[in-house]
Order: sequence, then structure tokens, then C-alpha cells
Amino acid sequence: MQTLLITGAAGIVGTALRPYLRQKYSLRLLDRQPINDLQDGETALVGDLTDPAFVEEAVKGSHAVLHLACAHGTGIAFVTTVEPNYHATLYLLEAAQRHGVKRFIFTSSHHVLGQYRTDAAATFDDMPAAADSYYALSKVFGEAACAAWTLRYKLPTFVIRIGNADATVSDARRLRLWTSARDLAQLVRIGLEHPDVRHEIVYGVSECPNALFCNARARDLGYAPQDNAAEHLAANFLPYEAMDPAHSGRDHVGGSYAGAALTSLLGSR
Ligand SMILES: NC(=O)c1ccc[n+]([C@@H]2O[C@H](COP(=O)([O-])OP(=O)(O)OC[C@H]3O[C@@H](n4cnc5c(N)ncnc54)[C@H](O)[C@@H]3O)[C@@H](O)[C@H]2O)c1
Repeated sequence: MQTLLITGAAGIVGTALRPYLRQKYSLRLLDRQPINDLQDGETALVGDLTDPAFVEEAVKGSHAVLHLACAHGTGIAFVTTVEPNYHATLYLLEAAQRHGVKRFIFTSSHHVLGQYRTDAAATFDDMPAAADSYYALSKVFGEAACAAWTLRYKLPTFVIRIGNADATVSDARRLRLWTSARDLAQLVRIGLEHPDVRHEIVYGVSECPNALFCNARARDLGYAPQDNAAEHLAANFLPYEAMDPAHSGRDHVGGSYAGAALTSLLGSR
């Protein structure tokens, strides 16, 4: 079985994807946090991606990398993102190239388009980046780094701009960009296995009513979502009218991220 290195494997997305991916891959689960419920075919690597020597060892022998780990948050300061989101992504790409990794999957976010109003376009797939936070800005960097490694080193890279990956849909904005774990796993498998992947940007979304992303490239590559966001509403789902117009960010792609003040470059001073 081929080895798939998953960074940030202890988090929400990693935990949700593991059951789908371990059927096909031997999983090397990397996180700063311990993972205590290891299953057959899974090994854990506890450490920090900001340590390049640790990254080197983690990547060695991996067939592919699924890079989930990052620092995130609405009002996160730029300085907080530098080591985990910029440096660590480059450590991984450099090690991937050195060790002959076959596929590199980078989880980006709809927040790279988060600053747009939801009525600014019919779909947002091809709009220029409009990052809504220092978190999103670091994702724009990660996407660009993936493109650079594909062109420079022929490392196939697959960027998934995830919508919302919670277990259920909490409000009207997320209804337009939600994904199930099952559909996200299908996209990851396409990124790992489709022969045409060079550098791709796709959207991690299930079928969504009034979708913000039409996801044509993913569908071209064979993506056929199995789940519909409308069938997974949370018990306390907030319809549009019930969302606070001032603070919910209901009219922006990135929700409340789009309205939050950008913390000063170096954090609070
Ligand atoms: N959950 C969503 O709805 C959503 C939406 C859009 C994009 N994404 C993207 O998907 C990815 C996973 O998101 P998530 O919701 O699982 O996040 P999460 O915060 O639940 O998990 C991230 C994990 O990464 C680990 N981590 C962070 N920095 C690390 C470092 N330097 N070294 C080692 N481990 C480190 C953390 O310990 C954590 O377990 C992220 O890249 C995120 O931007 C998620």
C-alpha cells in the first residue's frame, strides 16, 4: 500500500477523512497533538511542521502528501501565520520535491475569495483572489507555492478550496458552500489518483442550493458529489433572515471573516 502523509491529521477535517482514505492508503498521521485512536494501517507522527528536520523525516518514504495543518482564525495576526502557514508549507514542498513525492494536495479555503459580496457574481470560481484575513492571505501564498513547484519541479499539486466541512450546515451562507466528509474524500482521491492532475484548483463543496462555486474543473476530473447540503441542516440552522446583518457576514463569501478588523501586522501592540 502507498503511504499518504496527512498533516494536521488530528483536526476536524483529518479526523473526518481518515475512515475514507485508510481503505486505500497506509496513513502517516502527523500533528502537534497526539492521535490516540489509531486504526489498522495508520501510524502517528507527533511534532511541529515548523521544524524542517522533522518535516524531512516525515516526508521521506511518502508517496503523497495531504497538507491540512495551519494556523487559522478570524482575527489572526500576520505574524502568527508566518511559521506554520508560510515556512511549513515551503518545508513540505521542498522535502516533497527532494524525496520524489508523486502528489501534493493543499487544502486552501473559500476565504481566499472571502472579501467578495455574495451578490458580486453568479459564481466565484474564477474571480481573482480577495483574501478576507491574514489566514486567507497565507492560503493565497500556499496556492501560489503549489503552482510554482508544479512548474519548476513537475510536482503534481492539487489545491482544494474547502467551503465548510462541519458535520452539519449551520446557516444560510454555509448552505451555499458546505461539503460532506464523503465528498471531500472523493475529491482527495481524484487529487491523488487522476492521471491528468498537474496543478489544479478545485472547490471542496457538495451539491449546494444556489451554490457560490460551480466547480467545473472538479467535475471535468470526474467529481460527482454524493451529498446535498440541503439534506444536512443543523437542528438550529439559521436561515438568511435570522442572521444578524451587522455581524454574521451573511452577505460576504467569507462570512464574519470579511467584516473582522485585520489585526495589526505584528499582533496587538
Ligand atoms: N473545517 C473547515 O470547515 C475548513 C474550511 C475551509 C478550509 N479548511 C482547511 O482545511 C484544513 C484543516 O482544517 P481543520 O478544520 O481540520 O482545522 P483544525 O484546526 O481542526 O486542525 C488543524 C490541525 O493542524 C494541527 N497543526 C496546526 N499547526 C501545526 C503545526 N505547525 N505542526 C503540526 N500540526 C499542526 C493542529 O494541531 C490541528 O490538529 C486547514 O488547512 C483549513 O484551512 C477547513
